[in-house]
Amino acid sequence: KQSIIIDTDPGQDDALAILMALANNELLEVLGITAVCGNIGVRATAANALKVLRLAGREDVPVFVGAAAPILGGLVTAEALHGAAITEGWDLPTSTTHPRPEFAADWIIDTVNSHPPGTITICALGPLTNVALAIAKCPEVAGRLHGLVLMAGASQGGNMNAVAEFNVFVDAYAAARVFAAPVPKTVVSLDITSKLLLTERELNRLTSANNAITPRLKGLLTLYENYIKLGKPRPVHDPAVIAWLLAPEMFVGKDVNVEIDTTRGLTHGQTIVDMNGVTGRAANAFWLTAADNDTFYGLLAQALEETGRR
Ligand code: BDR
Ligand code: CA
Repeated sequence: KQSIIIDTDPGQDDALAILMALANNELLEVLGITAVCGNIGVRATAANALKVLRLAGREDVPVFVGAAAPILGGLVTAEALHGAAITEGWDLPTSTTHPRPEFAADWIIDTVNSHPPGTITICALGPLTNVALAIAKCPEVAGRLHGLVLMAGASQGGNMNAVAEFNVFVDAYAAARVFAAPVPKTVVSLDITSKLLLTERELNRLTSANNAITPRLKGLLTLYENYIKLGKPRPVHDPAVIAWLLAPEMFVGKDVNVEIDTTRGLTHGQTIVDMNGVTGRAANAFWLTAADNDTFYGLLAQALEETGRR
């Protein structure tokens, strides 16, 4: 069984990822959830994480509030960019629990230091501010992790500018620190998630289960439904991080060197991926290049059904 920390900015796709991890508790033990600013402000992402835990009947999992702003620069939220869509579906019942008092980055340090080395994986589903702060304050954390699985970056076309992906763009400086840290990293980028579009077929697959949870998830999936109606199905990004932990055989990838563009120009937040190994720089990440769509949505549908059975 793998012990994981989920660092996240829910976010509909973050919510699906959290549910997917919790539904597989014979394989994954979620030690805690650390909220970060990103899709929306950090108080709201923490509140959303608690709502997801309530939905899953897992309010025993602790939630910690993390960074309210990137390490460098002001916060750009997805809400500010895409309007209210990102807050759709969060009319879930408010949690009866509260975030714990410890600052997320400090809790990450304490937790990683109090567990045997090489046993904890961080799943980073939002901007990398909390993870970078933890490593900056206590560099030993990097060496004690089993690994870091990130939803981050793009080698072929961004969703924030021509080349940058949201999580890296929002705190490119944090991303640069994290990519430079000596910890095994697996990267789920837009290269992968752009192939995992939630089309009508997949939506039916996720909502057809006859259980208590699917009607309650409808609100969260409205975002995707609306894009399908517009003929522009959206990718489901963050659950692919959990899918990597559950079924790595459904992915193909390669060891590469990744550098982050932290300059404030047209390519701010770009992940510069040395796919052809021409720079001579040492590989610092395992970059996923292909995924099996059918297996991915099968895992997600199974996880939602399992949530409903509990
Ligand atoms: C990433 O940005 C966020 O909006 C999503 O939750 C995902 O983590 C995709 O670029
Ligand atoms: Ca996210």
